[in-house]
Amino acid sequence: MFQPAPRSQPSTVTIPGWDRERFGPLRERRIVLPRTGQGFRLLQPVDFDRLLEFAANDPEEHLPYWAELWPSGIALADAILLDPGTVRGTTVVELGCGLGLTAAAALRAGAQLVATDYSEAALLLTRWNCRRNVGREPAVMQLNWRRPSPDFFAALGSTGVPVVLAADVLYERRDLEPLLVLIERILAPGGLLWLAEPGRQTAADFVEQLRTAGWHDEQDTWTGPWPDASDSPVVVTVHRLRRPSHVSVRW
Ligand SMILES: C[S@@+](CC[C@H](N)C(=O)[O-])C[C@H]1O[C@@H](n2cnc3c(N)ncnc32)[C@H](O)[C@@H]1O
Repeated sequence: MFQPAPRSQPSTVTIPGWDRERFGPLRERRIVLPRTGQGFRLLQPVDFDRLLEFAANDPEEHLPYWAELWPSGIALADAILLDPGTVRGTTVVELGCGLGLTAAAALRAGAQLVATDYSEAALLLTRWNCRRNVGREPAVMQLNWRRPSPDFFAALGSTGVPVVLAADVLYERRDLEPLLVLIERILAPGGLLWLAEPGRQTAADFVEQLRTAGWHDEQDTWTGPWPDASDSPVVVTVHRLRRPSHVSVRW
C-alpha cells in the first residue's frame, strides 16, 4: 500500500511496482480544477533530472513529458466534469494519459475508460491516481502512436469507440500523421475527439486537416489558474471534434 518514504524525505512516497531506483521518489500534490472546483490528489515524480538521464537511452528519443502535469490535461479534466453526460457509461480511449488527471476525471464522470501511453511508468501512476481519487482504475494499454500493435486494435474491436480523449499530444511534427491515422482507426463514425491543446502549430495543423475533411469543431478556452506559476500565460483550447457519420476519411 501507500508507504511513507524514509524520515529524511518526509514528503516523498513510493507505491508497489514503482521503480524508485530508475525514476526516483514520488510526491503527492493537490489540484483544483479551475471551473468545476473539483479536487484531485496526484502522485508525481520529483526528480526530473533522473528521468531525463533515463530517457537519454530511449530508442525513440521520448522525453519524460508524462511526469509533468500540463494545463491541457487540467482543462480537459475540467471540460469533462462540466459535461459528464458525454462520457457516462461510454467506452472512451485516452491517448497520452500522463499522470492520469484526465483519466480520473473521465472515470469520475462515469466513463468506461481505456487509458494509453508510451510510458509504462505513466500507466502505473495513472492506475494509482485513478484508484486514489475515484476508487477504480481504467483499463490501461501501452501504445506507441507511431507503431500501434495489432493487439491494441483487437482489444478495441472493429466498430470504433464513441469518444477519444487527448490532452497536449500534438507537440512533435512526426506525430501529426500517425495520430490522424490512429484516430481514424479507433474513433467510430460520428464519434467525438475531445482534444485539448495549448496553441502549438502542430495541433493547429492537425485540427485544420480534420476540418478540411469535414469534421465539426466546437471550441472553448481555458486560461487557468494553473497550479504551476510558470504556466500562467498558457491558454488552452478544448476542441470537441465530431467525426462525420458517413464520410470515410483516408489520410
Ligand atoms: C505533454 S504530455 C501530456 C500528458 C497529459 N495528457 C497531460 O495533459 O497532462 C504527452 C503524453 O503523451 C505521451 N506520448 C508521447 N509520445 C507518444 C507516443 N509516440 N505514443 C504514445 N504516447 C506518447 C507521453 O508519454 C505523455 O504522457
